[in-house]
Amino acid sequence: MQIHTTIASLRTARASAGKVAFVPTMGNLHDGHITLMRQAGERADCVIASIFVNRLQFGPREDFNNYPRTLAADCERLEAAGVTHVFAPDESVMYPEPQHYYIDPAPAQISILEGEFRPDHFRGVATVVLKLLNIVQPDFALFGKKDYQQLMVLSNMVRELAIPVEVLPGETVRAADGLALSSRNSYLSPEERAEAPRLHRQLARIRDAVRGGDHDFLKLETEAVAELAAHGWHPDYIAVRRRADLQPPVQADNPLVVLAAAKLGRTRLIDNLEI
Ligand code: PAJ
Repeated sequence: MQIHTTIASLRTARASAGKVAFVPTMGNLHDGHITLMRQAGERADCVIASIFVNRLQFGPREDFNNYPRTLAADCERLEAAGVTHVFAPDESVMYPEPQHYYIDPAPAQISILEGEFRPDHFRGVATVVLKLLNIVQPDFALFGKKDYQQLMVLSNMVRELAIPVEVLPGETVRAADGLALSSRNSYLSPEERAEAPRLHRQLARIRDAVRGGDHDFLKLETEAVAELAAHGWHPDYIAVRRRADLQPPVQADNPLVVLAAAKLGRTRLIDNLEI
């Protein structure tokens, strides 16, 4: 496995790599990331992963400085997963000058859910992902459904800008108790880690109720918020939405997804389940 820290070196390697599947990450890799790498390997001759903690997508009071950086351990896991090239630039490579050109996703997509609570987040994500796609020029790019709105924003960007890449979604990988794997889970204390699966359980309860014919979404959402709050959580949102555009469903809209974000102590967790 080769590790590239410059754009020139990555591009030279890419030129002779055949069909390439690309998995962008911010590192601190867990089995969710590794599953995407293996899925990528099934589609292409060569898997390129990137590791870059992208300052542009963090708000001023968010965890950019504390975000876990574990490059050596990450590279060991990537090699074991059959990844052939890692692009691990530092900031001077990705942003040698202040970024002046940005991708602004559609307001209807970024004013809701994560976008409402993290202004500019998706602008930062879309901008870095376009830049990474321009650097790597992959045939396929893989993104997890764990970040459901991110997957939607990026799929729409690729389609609307005719970027020559096929986006492939990956299913959310969970711990045995249901908690979605996330680099931010490492912030949780042992007590918080024991409490954390409640978020997934509430989503599953809503999913099962809707599947069972209960379409009083507001009641289901309000109950879940109250249940989490009663156990010390600070929910940002729990929302049943249309999968296609993440807007509120009207009667009999289908298919649906239920999405949530909530703070447990200092840690903000997000999760979702397709209904
Ligand atoms: P990061 O949080 O490191 O996630 C990298 C990829 O792994 C994303 O596509 C994410 O959806 C996926 N992923 C994370 N947890 C997962 C899980 N439990 N199961 C399945 N897939 C999971 O998302 C980002 O980085 C950044 O925003 C990025 C796209 C790299 C742009 O900076």
